[in-house]
Amino acid sequence: MTVKVRAPATSANLGPGFDCAGVALEFWNELEVSEADGAVVEVEGEGVSETPRDGNHLGLRAFSLITDPEGKRFRFINRIPFARGLGSSSATIALGLVAACLWEGVEPDPAELLPLAVRLEPHADNIAACLYGGVTLAWEEEGLWRCRRIADSLPLDLIAVVPKQSVETITARAGLPAEVLHADAAFSSGRAALLGASLATSDAQLLAAAFHDRLHEPYRSAAAPLLGQLQEEPARGSVGVTLSGSGPTIIVWARHEESAACAEELTARFPDCKVLALAVATGGAGAF
Ligand code: HSE
Repeated sequence: MTVKVRAPATSANLGPGFDCAGVALEFWNELEVSEADGAVVEVEGEGVSETPRDGNHLGLRAFSLITDPEGKRFRFINRIPFARGLGSSSATIALGLVAACLWEGVEPDPAELLPLAVRLEPHADNIAACLYGGVTLAWEEEGLWRCRRIADSLPLDLIAVVPKQSVETITARAGLPAEVLHADAAFSSGRAALLGASLATSDAQLLAAAFHDRLHEPYRSAAAPLLGQLQEEPARGSVGVTLSGSGPTIIVWARHEESAACAEELTARFPDCKVLALAVATGGAGAF
């Protein structure tokens, strides 16, 4: 028996939607599970040298929340850059959960998998978008994480500028203050409301107005210097800039008709970065 699954990259927060908003992107990691002696882990692509080859592998930890990884070979194909804010950990968790369901002959249900996933990654915005696909909002209700997919597409194009250096989410979260000023909270909650409304109505102008945050981006800009550079000197056609998750990847938002020129300028300006024009993935993690 063999099971093949894929899981998309994700960008979380989308500016002021901290720990809530996310989008799945057409950029996929894969996992093939087949029968073997013991539990064998093989990894190709991104993060080969940083990934455990035993039960500590995040994908196996996820798989083992549903069924026993013993007697199976796990072959991970990693394309999503590690520790760059594009949801590589969430994709690995989703791969393990979805593969385990399919191995057991159960149809994966994102609503059931989300509470399992947050045992391994406590903020749900990336994993929600990864499991559901499209554009999602996730929130906690009486101890249970919930998600609603609110759109299949975005009214602006998304260009990821991925630097070489990595930032661990745990470190980026540790750098956030325990308290913020009421004025900053008010500013960000207003922008978060605009964000939700603009995503639900596919309003490009409202979305561009939403891309400002005072809850996390100011505290992370030192580790993601491109954020300030691209805010001060926007690329042609850019209507907003956000940190992707906890960074250091930057998302440059551009009008459809100008996004090719924008990506071209970004490629020329930042030759050490990967510049990826990414479409929204309408499907979440699943068999392929
Ligand atoms: N919402 C999370 C954070 C996303 O900003 O820390 C991490 O990718």
